[in-house]
Amino acid sequence: MNLFKSRAFLLALTLILLFVPCSAFAQQEMTEEEEDAAYEAQLEQGKDYYNVNCRLCHGSNGNGKGFVSSIRYAEKNGRVLITYPRDFTVGVYRFRTTSTGCLPDIEDLKLTIKGGVTRSFMPPQDGISEEDLTAVTEYIMTFSDRFVEEDFCDVIEAKKPDTVATAHSIDKGKVVYNDMKCWECHGYEGLGDGPKSLDIVDDWGQKLLPFNFITGSLKRGSSAENIYMTFTAGLDGTGMPSYEDSLNEEARWDLVSYTLKLMGLTDQKEKDH
Ligand code: HEC
Ligand code: HEC
Repeated sequence: MNLFKSRAFLLALTLILLFVPCSAFAQQEMTEEEEDAAYEAQLEQGKDYYNVNCRLCHGSNGNGKGFVSSIRYAEKNGRVLITYPRDFTVGVYRFRTTSTGCLPDIEDLKLTIKGGVTRSFMPPQDGISEEDLTAVTEYIMTFSDRFVEEDFCDVIEAKKPDTVATAHSIDKGKVVYNDMKCWECHGYEGLGDGPKSLDIVDDWGQKLLPFNFITGSLKRGSSAENIYMTFTAGLDGTGMPSYEDSLNEEARWDLVSYTLKLMGLTDQKEKDH
């Protein structure tokens, strides 16, 4: 009998081929001690990266009081409104894709770290490797117990409808802007000069100006999805509320249209419709 033509032989060969890679993989699985050691090594790597690139602003213990912020504190004269480097010890984050009150998703943190924050002098980390990015993100999470004590929340989806930036949606968005009193902080024309604008303090007791739609660039990015996320998730710690429960999705997208209009970013689409 020709061995290679035997069905039993082929079956056995297939099983061996399947089994060998599986068992090799199983042997590669880490023990608990090895996992702990790998995590510690990752934190060390994150700390090294942090000390070179972040400590100057965020401070060696993550409380936002690095060297740079002390210079800025000294410059303050009561009317100078600037955003201080974030204090990581409280675990409250602005740029989240999670509901208000939730921890940020790890990807949210990575996005902010890699992209930086315009208007706040937080520089982007253009050439950062994925490994360093993960390591430094894990490292800053160790500054707050929230990341140990709380579960992560679900991420909010932003599915942009075609109506965004059309004239009809802009008109509806303007009504929502007025009804929801966005103007109390952001001003009637979106100039950031509403009646409450000079009284806003963040969770750390620092004065903070509402966004001026006409001039500034958006901190979390100017795409329609980013803007939608700002008033859906809220900017925790700043007084800028979440409208996830008080406005339905359609109204929030209309608000995106109106925001884009205020920022002068809608002209082409308006003409198209
Ligand atoms: C030049 C100063 C500066 C440097 C350097 C800097 N940051 Fe920041 N960072 C800031 C400021 C200012 C803010 C506050 C931004 C705001 O809310 O407008 C901030 C905010 C943050 C936030 C909060 C985002 C949120 O959702 O609330 C994270 C996370 C962060 N920085 C991480 C880092 C990491 C990690 C590094 C180093 C790779 C770094 N930063 C380097 C100034 C800096
Ligand atoms: C209680 C005051 C307050 C109200 C009400 C308010 N905001 Fe804000 N908003 C703020 C503050 C303060 C900031 C700036 C936060 C910062 O710079 O970190 C802000 C920032 C923003 C930003 C810019 C986010 C970015 O990425 O830079 C947008 C967009 C925005 N608000 C839209 C709205 C809309 C639309 C409404 C109404 C549905 C609204 N806000 C209601 C206080 C408010």
